[in-house]
Amino acid sequence: MLTAEQNRLVTDVSPGTPLHRYWKKHWLPALRGEALEAGGTPQKVELLCERYVAFRGDDGKVGFLFEACPHRGVSLALGRNENNRLTCIFHGWSFDAEGNCTRMPTEQDQSFCSKVKGQGFPVKEAGGIVWVYLGEGEPPKFSDYAFTYLTREYTRPRASYNEANWLQNVETLLDSAHIGLLHNDTTADKSLPQAGLQLVTGNDTPKYVLESRPYGLSSFSIRTMPEAKHYLRVTEFVAPGTAFIGTTEAEAGFMIMVIPVNNTRSLQWYVYWDKRQPIDSNLPDFALLCTDESDDNFAASRQGTPNYGQDRDAMRRGESWSGVPGVIFEDYAVAESIPIVDRTREFLGSGDLAIVRLRRELMERIRKSEAGEDCLQAEETDYRSLRALAEVIPADKDIKIFAEEKRKQRQVELI
Ligand code: FES
Ligand SMILES: [Fe+2]
Repeated sequence: MLTAEQNRLVTDVSPGTPLHRYWKKHWLPALRGEALEAGGTPQKVELLCERYVAFRGDDGKVGFLFEACPHRGVSLALGRNENNRLTCIFHGWSFDAEGNCTRMPTEQDQSFCSKVKGQGFPVKEAGGIVWVYLGEGEPPKFSDYAFTYLTREYTRPRASYNEANWLQNVETLLDSAHIGLLHNDTTADKSLPQAGLQLVTGNDTPKYVLESRPYGLSSFSIRTMPEAKHYLRVTEFVAPGTAFIGTTEAEAGFMIMVIPVNNTRSLQWYVYWDKRQPIDSNLPDFALLCTDESDDNFAASRQGTPNYGQDRDAMRRGESWSGVPGVIFEDYAVAESIPIVDRTREFLGSGDLAIVRLRRELMERIRKSEAGEDCLQAEETDYRSLRALAEVIPADKDIKIFAEEKRKQRQVELI
Protein backbone atom coordinates (compact mmCIF):
# COMPACT_ATOMS: atom_id res chain seq x y z
CA MET A 1 0.00 0.00 0.00
CA LEU A 2 1.21 3.51 -0.79
CA THR A 3 0.08 6.92 0.41
CA ALA A 4 -1.74 9.04 -2.14
CA GLU A 5 1.38 11.17 -2.42
CA GLN A 6 3.65 8.17 -3.03
CA ASN A 7 1.24 6.83 -5.63
CA ARG A 8 1.40 10.13 -7.48
CA LEU A 9 5.19 10.17 -7.22
CA VAL A 10 5.54 6.82 -9.01
CA THR A 11 2.74 7.22 -11.54
CA ASP A 12 2.55 10.88 -12.58
CA VAL A 13 4.96 11.47 -15.43
CA SER A 14 3.68 14.91 -16.43
CA PRO A 15 6.24 17.65 -17.16
CA GLY A 16 7.42 19.28 -13.93
CA THR A 17 7.11 16.13 -11.81
CA PRO A 18 10.06 14.28 -10.22
CA LEU A 19 9.10 11.15 -12.20
CA HIS A 20 9.24 13.06 -15.49
CA ARG A 21 12.71 14.38 -14.66
CA TYR A 22 13.84 10.90 -13.57
CA TRP A 23 12.62 9.18 -16.74
CA LYS A 24 14.30 11.81 -18.89
CA LYS A 25 17.71 10.77 -17.58
CA HIS A 26 17.50 7.48 -19.52
CA TRP A 27 17.95 6.41 -23.10
CA LEU A 28 14.42 5.60 -24.29
CA PRO A 29 13.47 3.13 -27.05
CA ALA A 30 11.16 5.37 -29.07
CA LEU A 31 10.23 3.59 -32.32
CA ARG A 32 11.46 0.95 -34.73
CA GLY A 33 14.19 1.96 -37.13
CA GLU A 34 12.16 0.41 -39.95
CA ALA A 35 9.25 2.76 -39.17
CA LEU A 36 11.33 5.56 -40.70
CA GLU A 37 12.02 5.46 -44.40
CA ALA A 38 14.88 7.56 -45.80
CA GLY A 39 13.24 10.72 -47.13
CA GLY A 40 9.86 9.29 -46.07
CA THR A 41 6.95 10.35 -43.88
CA PRO A 42 7.95 11.81 -40.50
CA GLN A 43 6.43 9.94 -37.54
CA LYS A 44 4.80 11.45 -34.48
CA VAL A 45 6.05 10.05 -31.19
CA GLU A 46 4.59 10.86 -27.78
CA LEU A 47 6.79 10.15 -24.75
CA LEU A 48 6.50 11.27 -21.14
CA CYS A 49 3.45 13.43 -21.95
CA GLU A 50 5.33 15.39 -24.62
CA ARG A 51 5.08 15.30 -28.39
CA TYR A 52 7.97 14.72 -30.76
CA VAL A 53 8.54 13.95 -34.41
CA ALA A 54 11.10 11.58 -35.88
CA PHE A 55 12.32 11.58 -39.48
CA ARG A 56 15.04 9.92 -41.53
CA GLY A 57 16.89 12.04 -44.03
CA ASP A 58 17.96 10.81 -47.46
CA ASP A 59 21.39 10.17 -45.94
CA GLY A 60 19.81 7.65 -43.52
CA LYS A 61 20.38 9.80 -40.45
CA VAL A 62 17.53 10.00 -37.94
CA GLY A 63 16.38 13.30 -36.46
CA PHE A 64 14.28 13.44 -33.32
CA LEU A 65 12.72 16.85 -32.71
CA PHE A 66 10.00 18.52 -30.70
CA GLU A 67 6.88 18.11 -32.78
CA ALA A 68 5.92 21.79 -32.54
CA CYS A 69 7.84 24.06 -34.87
CA PRO A 70 9.74 26.61 -32.76
CA HIS A 71 8.42 29.40 -34.98
CA ARG A 72 4.68 29.39 -34.31
CA GLY A 73 4.09 25.86 -33.08
CA VAL A 74 2.72 24.03 -36.12
CA SER A 75 3.33 20.27 -36.22
CA LEU A 76 6.53 19.36 -38.01
CA ALA A 77 4.93 15.99 -38.74
CA LEU A 78 3.27 17.85 -41.61
CA GLY A 79 6.70 18.92 -42.81
CA ARG A 80 8.62 18.18 -46.00
CA ASN A 81 11.42 15.64 -45.58
CA GLU A 82 14.02 16.52 -48.21
CA ASN A 83 17.72 17.41 -48.47
CA ASN A 84 18.27 15.81 -45.04
CA ARG A 85 16.09 18.50 -43.50
CA LEU A 86 12.60 18.61 -42.08
CA THR A 87 10.95 21.76 -43.39
CA CYS A 88 7.83 23.23 -41.82
CA ILE A 89 5.12 23.73 -44.43
CA PHE A 90 3.78 26.90 -42.77
CA HIS A 91 6.68 29.34 -43.36
CA GLY A 92 9.42 27.01 -44.55
CA TRP A 93 11.78 26.96 -41.59
CA SER A 94 14.15 23.96 -41.98
CA PHE A 95 15.81 21.76 -39.39
CA ASP A 96 18.60 19.22 -39.72
CA ALA A 97 18.81 15.88 -37.87
CA GLU A 98 20.43 17.56 -34.86
CA GLY A 99 17.59 20.06 -34.67
CA ASN A 100 19.63 23.03 -35.90
CA CYS A 101 17.57 25.57 -37.78
CA THR A 102 19.28 25.95 -41.17
CA ARG A 103 16.93 28.21 -43.12
CA MET A 104 14.22 30.82 -42.47
CA PRO A 105 12.66 32.03 -45.73
CA THR A 106 10.60 34.60 -43.80
CA GLU A 107 13.66 36.38 -42.37
CA GLN A 108 16.01 38.81 -44.07
CA ASP A 109 18.69 38.06 -41.54
CA GLN A 110 19.49 34.34 -41.58
CA SER A 111 21.68 34.69 -38.50
CA PHE A 112 18.41 34.48 -36.51
CA CYS A 113 18.65 30.71 -37.23
CA SER A 114 21.43 30.31 -34.69
CA LYS A 115 19.21 31.73 -31.93
CA VAL A 116 16.72 28.87 -32.29
CA LYS A 117 18.03 26.15 -29.98
CA GLY A 118 16.90 23.03 -28.17
CA GLN A 119 14.72 21.63 -30.95
CA GLY A 120 16.57 18.29 -31.43
CA PHE A 121 17.69 15.37 -29.26
CA PRO A 122 20.52 12.81 -29.39
CA VAL A 123 19.54 9.52 -31.04
CA LYS A 124 21.15 6.15 -31.43
CA GLU A 125 20.04 3.29 -33.65
CA ALA A 126 20.70 -0.16 -32.25
CA GLY A 127 18.96 -3.54 -32.32
CA GLY A 128 16.36 -2.29 -34.80
CA ILE A 129 15.24 0.51 -32.46
CA VAL A 130 15.69 4.28 -32.51
CA TRP A 131 16.70 5.31 -28.98
CA VAL A 132 16.50 8.88 -27.85
CA TYR A 133 17.87 10.88 -24.96
CA LEU A 134 15.42 13.60 -23.94
CA GLY A 135 17.23 14.79 -20.83
CA GLU A 136 19.55 17.67 -20.22
CA GLY A 137 23.33 17.63 -20.65
CA GLU A 138 25.35 14.64 -21.79
CA PRO A 139 23.47 11.34 -22.18
CA PRO A 140 24.46 8.49 -19.83
CA LYS A 141 26.32 5.39 -21.02
CA PHE A 142 24.10 3.63 -23.54
CA SER A 143 22.11 0.64 -22.29
CA ASP A 144 23.83 -1.74 -24.71
CA TYR A 145 21.75 -4.86 -24.11
CA ALA A 146 22.91 -7.96 -26.01
CA PHE A 147 20.32 -7.51 -28.75
CA THR A 148 21.57 -4.00 -29.55
CA TYR A 149 24.65 -5.64 -31.10
CA LEU A 150 22.54 -7.67 -33.54
CA THR A 151 20.98 -6.90 -36.90
CA ARG A 152 17.27 -7.25 -37.56
CA GLU A 153 17.79 -10.80 -38.83
CA TYR A 154 18.72 -11.94 -35.32
CA THR A 155 16.63 -9.62 -33.22
CA ARG A 156 12.97 -8.72 -33.41
CA PRO A 157 11.73 -5.73 -31.48
CA ARG A 158 7.94 -5.57 -31.45
CA ALA A 159 6.25 -2.41 -30.20
CA SER A 160 2.73 -2.10 -28.85
CA TYR A 161 0.62 0.35 -26.89
CA ASN A 162 -1.88 -0.07 -24.11
CA GLU A 163 -4.10 2.35 -22.23
CA ALA A 164 -2.66 1.93 -18.76
CA ASN A 165 -0.25 3.78 -16.51
CA TRP A 166 3.29 2.54 -17.04
CA LEU A 167 3.80 1.34 -13.47
CA GLN A 168 1.10 -1.29 -13.48
CA ASN A 169 2.59 -2.70 -16.68
CA VAL A 170 5.98 -2.92 -14.98
CA GLU A 171 4.49 -4.40 -11.84
CA THR A 172 3.00 -7.20 -13.93
CA LEU A 173 6.47 -8.02 -15.26
CA LEU A 174 7.79 -8.60 -11.76
CA ASP A 175 4.76 -10.50 -10.55
CA SER A 176 5.74 -14.15 -10.77
CA ALA A 177 2.73 -15.29 -8.74
CA HIS A 178 0.22 -14.46 -11.51
CA ILE A 179 1.80 -16.63 -14.19
CA GLY A 180 0.08 -19.90 -13.31
CA LEU A 181 -3.26 -18.14 -12.72
CA LEU A 182 -3.87 -15.35 -15.26
CA HIS A 183 -1.95 -17.30 -17.92
CA ASN A 184 -3.37 -20.67 -16.95
CA ASP A 185 -4.63 -21.43 -20.48
CA THR A 186 -0.99 -21.40 -21.61
CA THR A 187 0.82 -22.71 -18.56
CA ALA A 188 -1.57 -25.65 -18.17
CA ASP A 189 -1.19 -26.60 -21.83
CA LYS A 190 1.38 -29.36 -21.87
CA SER A 191 1.77 -29.15 -25.63
CA LEU A 192 3.50 -25.76 -25.37
CA PRO A 193 7.04 -26.24 -24.09
CA GLN A 194 7.78 -22.56 -23.43
CA ALA A 195 10.67 -21.82 -21.09
CA GLY A 196 9.35 -24.28 -18.51
CA LEU A 197 6.24 -22.20 -17.86
CA GLN A 198 4.21 -25.35 -17.26
CA LEU A 199 6.22 -25.91 -14.12
CA VAL A 200 4.42 -23.07 -12.38
CA THR A 201 0.98 -24.59 -12.88
CA GLY A 202 -0.69 -25.27 -9.53
CA ASN A 203 2.36 -23.83 -7.78
CA ASP A 204 1.16 -20.32 -7.12
CA THR A 205 2.96 -19.37 -3.93
CA PRO A 206 6.57 -18.82 -4.96
CA LYS A 207 9.05 -17.68 -2.36
CA TYR A 208 10.68 -14.40 -3.36
CA VAL A 209 14.22 -13.28 -2.76
CA LEU A 210 15.17 -9.81 -3.98
CA GLU A 211 18.65 -8.46 -4.47
CA SER A 212 19.54 -4.84 -5.16
CA ARG A 213 21.68 -4.25 -8.22
CA PRO A 214 23.29 -1.11 -9.65
CA TYR A 215 20.75 -1.25 -12.51
CA GLY A 216 17.72 -2.26 -10.43
CA LEU A 217 16.80 -5.61 -8.93
CA SER A 218 17.23 -9.33 -9.36
CA SER A 219 13.98 -10.98 -8.38
CA PHE A 220 14.33 -14.68 -7.56
CA SER A 221 11.12 -16.66 -7.34
CA ILE A 222 11.47 -20.19 -6.06
CA ARG A 223 8.92 -22.96 -6.35
CA THR A 224 9.28 -26.27 -4.57
CA MET A 225 9.15 -29.32 -6.85
CA PRO A 226 9.08 -33.06 -6.22
CA GLU A 227 12.35 -34.99 -5.77
CA ALA A 228 14.18 -32.31 -3.79
CA LYS A 229 14.21 -29.85 -6.67
CA HIS A 230 13.46 -26.17 -6.98
CA TYR A 231 12.08 -24.36 -9.98
CA LEU A 232 13.97 -21.09 -9.99
CA ARG A 233 12.93 -18.11 -12.07
CA VAL A 234 15.03 -14.96 -11.94
CA THR A 235 13.68 -11.78 -13.45
CA GLU A 236 16.23 -9.03 -13.96
CA PHE A 237 14.68 -5.61 -13.56
CA VAL A 238 16.45 -2.61 -15.05
CA ALA A 239 14.92 0.56 -13.65
CA PRO A 240 12.67 2.19 -14.51
CA GLY A 241 10.77 -0.09 -16.92
CA THR A 242 12.73 -3.03 -18.32
CA ALA A 243 12.62 -6.70 -17.38
CA PHE A 244 14.37 -9.81 -18.65
CA ILE A 245 12.04 -12.73 -18.30
CA GLY A 246 12.23 -16.50 -18.28
CA THR A 247 15.07 -17.44 -20.61
CA THR A 248 18.38 -18.84 -19.61
CA GLU A 249 20.62 -19.01 -22.64
CA ALA A 250 23.61 -16.75 -23.19
CA GLU A 251 23.01 -16.32 -26.89
CA ALA A 252 19.27 -15.83 -26.96
CA GLY A 253 16.86 -13.88 -24.86
CA PHE A 254 13.60 -12.11 -24.31
CA MET A 255 12.94 -8.81 -22.62
CA ILE A 256 10.13 -6.34 -22.19
CA MET A 257 10.53 -2.57 -21.95
CA VAL A 258 7.74 -0.29 -20.76
CA ILE A 259 7.88 3.43 -21.53
CA PRO A 260 5.26 5.97 -20.42
CA VAL A 261 3.61 7.69 -23.37
CA ASN A 262 1.48 9.70 -20.97
CA ASN A 263 -0.12 8.94 -17.62
CA THR A 264 -2.66 6.50 -19.02
CA ARG A 265 -0.87 5.12 -22.07
CA SER A 266 2.23 2.95 -22.31
CA LEU A 267 4.56 1.90 -25.07
CA GLN A 268 5.52 -1.68 -24.42
CA TRP A 269 8.31 -3.39 -26.34
CA TYR A 270 8.71 -7.15 -26.67
CA VAL A 271 12.20 -7.93 -27.86
CA TYR A 272 13.30 -11.39 -28.93
CA TRP A 273 16.77 -12.28 -30.08
CA ASP A 274 18.94 -15.25 -30.91
CA LYS A 275 22.50 -14.82 -32.05
CA ARG A 276 22.69 -18.33 -33.50
CA GLN A 277 19.84 -18.35 -35.99
CA PRO A 278 17.43 -15.99 -37.76
CA ILE A 279 14.89 -14.95 -35.15
CA ASP A 280 11.75 -14.87 -37.30
CA SER A 281 11.74 -18.64 -37.64
CA ASN A 282 12.60 -19.14 -34.00
CA LEU A 283 10.19 -17.01 -31.97
CA PRO A 284 8.65 -18.43 -28.79
CA ASP A 285 5.11 -19.75 -29.28
CA PHE A 286 3.40 -16.92 -27.44
CA ALA A 287 5.21 -14.14 -29.33
CA LEU A 288 2.77 -13.77 -32.22
CA LEU A 289 -0.28 -15.34 -30.62
CA CYS A 290 -3.36 -13.24 -31.43
CA THR A 291 -1.20 -10.19 -32.24
CA ASP A 292 -1.29 -8.00 -35.37
CA GLU A 293 1.40 -8.45 -37.98
CA SER A 294 2.71 -4.91 -37.58
CA ASP A 295 5.70 -4.59 -35.29
CA ASP A 296 4.98 -0.87 -34.86
CA ASN A 297 1.88 -1.62 -32.78
CA PHE A 298 0.94 -5.28 -32.71
CA ALA A 299 -1.96 -4.53 -30.35
CA ALA A 300 -3.72 -2.03 -32.66
CA SER A 301 -6.66 -4.14 -33.78
CA ARG A 302 -7.33 -5.37 -30.23
CA GLN A 303 -7.59 -1.91 -28.75
CA GLY A 304 -11.13 -0.78 -28.24
CA THR A 305 -12.39 -4.39 -28.24
CA PRO A 306 -14.25 -4.62 -24.91
CA ASN A 307 -12.09 -6.53 -22.41
CA TYR A 308 -9.82 -7.66 -25.25
CA GLY A 309 -12.55 -9.98 -26.47
CA GLN A 310 -13.02 -11.82 -23.18
CA ASP A 311 -15.08 -14.91 -24.02
CA ARG A 312 -17.52 -15.55 -21.17
CA ASP A 313 -18.90 -18.68 -22.82
CA ALA A 314 -15.45 -20.24 -23.03
CA MET A 315 -14.97 -19.40 -19.34
CA ARG A 316 -18.29 -21.01 -18.43
CA ARG A 317 -17.48 -24.11 -20.44
CA GLY A 318 -14.20 -24.43 -18.51
CA GLU A 319 -12.16 -23.99 -21.69
CA SER A 320 -10.48 -20.79 -20.59
CA TRP A 321 -9.58 -19.25 -17.24
CA SER A 322 -9.32 -15.60 -18.25
CA GLY A 323 -11.40 -15.77 -21.41
CA VAL A 324 -8.85 -13.46 -23.04
CA PRO A 325 -6.93 -14.81 -26.02
CA GLY A 326 -3.14 -14.90 -25.74
CA VAL A 327 -0.65 -14.36 -22.91
CA ILE A 328 0.22 -10.80 -23.93
CA PHE A 329 -3.37 -9.61 -24.06
CA GLU A 330 -4.17 -11.27 -20.76
CA ASP A 331 -1.57 -8.94 -19.27
CA TYR A 332 -2.95 -5.96 -21.20
CA ALA A 333 -6.56 -6.62 -20.20
CA VAL A 334 -5.53 -6.67 -16.55
CA ALA A 335 -3.39 -3.53 -16.84
CA GLU A 336 -6.00 -1.54 -18.75
CA SER A 337 -8.90 -2.56 -16.51
CA ILE A 338 -8.08 0.39 -14.21
CA PRO A 339 -6.06 3.10 -16.00
CA ILE A 340 -4.22 4.30 -12.84
CA VAL A 341 -4.44 1.93 -9.89
CA ASP A 342 -5.26 3.51 -6.53
CA ARG A 343 -2.50 1.99 -4.40
CA THR A 344 -3.88 3.48 -1.20
CA ARG A 345 -6.54 0.77 -1.17
CA GLU A 346 -4.50 -2.38 -1.71
CA PHE A 347 -3.91 -5.34 0.58
CA LEU A 348 -0.49 -6.65 -0.33
CA GLY A 349 0.45 -10.17 0.71
CA SER A 350 3.55 -12.34 0.61
CA GLY A 351 2.93 -12.96 -3.09
CA ASP A 352 3.51 -9.24 -3.69
CA LEU A 353 6.96 -8.97 -2.18
CA ALA A 354 8.60 -8.21 -5.53
CA ILE A 355 6.08 -5.42 -6.16
CA VAL A 356 6.81 -3.82 -2.79
CA ARG A 357 10.55 -3.88 -3.48
CA LEU A 358 10.06 -2.56 -6.99
CA ARG A 359 8.18 0.48 -5.72
CA ARG A 360 10.72 1.11 -2.99
CA GLU A 361 13.51 0.87 -5.54
CA LEU A 362 11.79 3.36 -7.84
CA MET A 363 11.09 5.82 -5.05
CA GLU A 364 14.72 5.68 -3.98
CA ARG A 365 15.89 6.30 -7.54
CA ILE A 366 13.51 9.24 -7.94
CA ARG A 367 14.83 10.64 -4.66
CA LYS A 368 18.40 10.29 -5.94
CA SER A 369 17.45 11.90 -9.23
CA GLU A 370 15.99 14.91 -7.43
CA ALA A 371 19.03 15.15 -5.16
CA GLY A 372 21.37 15.18 -8.17
CA GLU A 373 22.85 11.77 -7.26
CA ASP A 374 23.56 8.97 -9.74
CA CYS A 375 20.13 7.35 -10.14
CA LEU A 376 21.12 5.09 -13.07
CA GLN A 377 24.48 3.61 -12.12
CA ALA A 378 24.96 2.94 -15.82
CA GLU A 379 28.74 2.93 -15.49
CA GLU A 380 28.57 0.04 -13.03
CA THR A 381 26.19 -1.97 -15.21
CA ASP A 382 27.13 -4.66 -17.70
CA TYR A 383 23.91 -4.41 -19.72
CA ARG A 384 25.12 -6.87 -22.31
CA SER A 385 25.28 -9.90 -20.05
CA LEU A 386 21.86 -9.39 -18.45
CA ARG A 387 19.52 -12.37 -18.85
CA ALA A 388 16.69 -13.96 -16.96
CA LEU A 389 16.87 -17.48 -15.59
CA ALA A 390 14.29 -20.26 -15.61
CA GLU A 391 15.74 -23.53 -14.38
CA VAL A 392 15.10 -26.57 -12.27
CA ILE A 393 17.92 -26.88 -9.75
CA PRO A 394 18.69 -29.17 -6.79
CA ALA A 395 16.91 -27.83 -3.69
CA ASP A 396 20.18 -27.59 -1.77
CA LYS A 397 21.83 -25.39 -4.38
CA ASP A 398 22.41 -21.80 -3.24
CA ILE A 399 20.35 -19.70 -5.67
CA LYS A 400 22.59 -16.65 -5.53
CA ILE A 401 25.72 -18.67 -6.21
CA PHE A 402 23.90 -20.46 -9.01
CA ALA A 403 22.83 -17.17 -10.62
CA GLU A 404 26.31 -15.71 -10.30
CA GLU A 405 27.86 -18.81 -11.91
CA LYS A 406 25.45 -18.46 -14.81
CA ARG A 407 26.28 -14.79 -15.23
CA LYS A 408 30.01 -15.46 -15.31
CA GLN A 409 29.50 -18.27 -17.82
CA ARG A 410 27.52 -15.88 -20.06
CA GLN A 411 30.25 -13.30 -19.93
CA VAL A 412 32.75 -15.92 -21.12
CA GLU A 413 30.42 -17.04 -23.92
CA LEU A 414 29.94 -13.44 -25.06
CA ILE A 415 33.65 -12.72 -25.48
S1 FES B 1 5.22 27.65 -37.84
FE1 FES B 1 6.80 26.54 -38.71
S2 FES B 1 7.75 27.90 -40.05
FE2 FES B 1 6.21 29.08 -39.15
FE1 LIG C 1 1.78 -11.91 -17.35
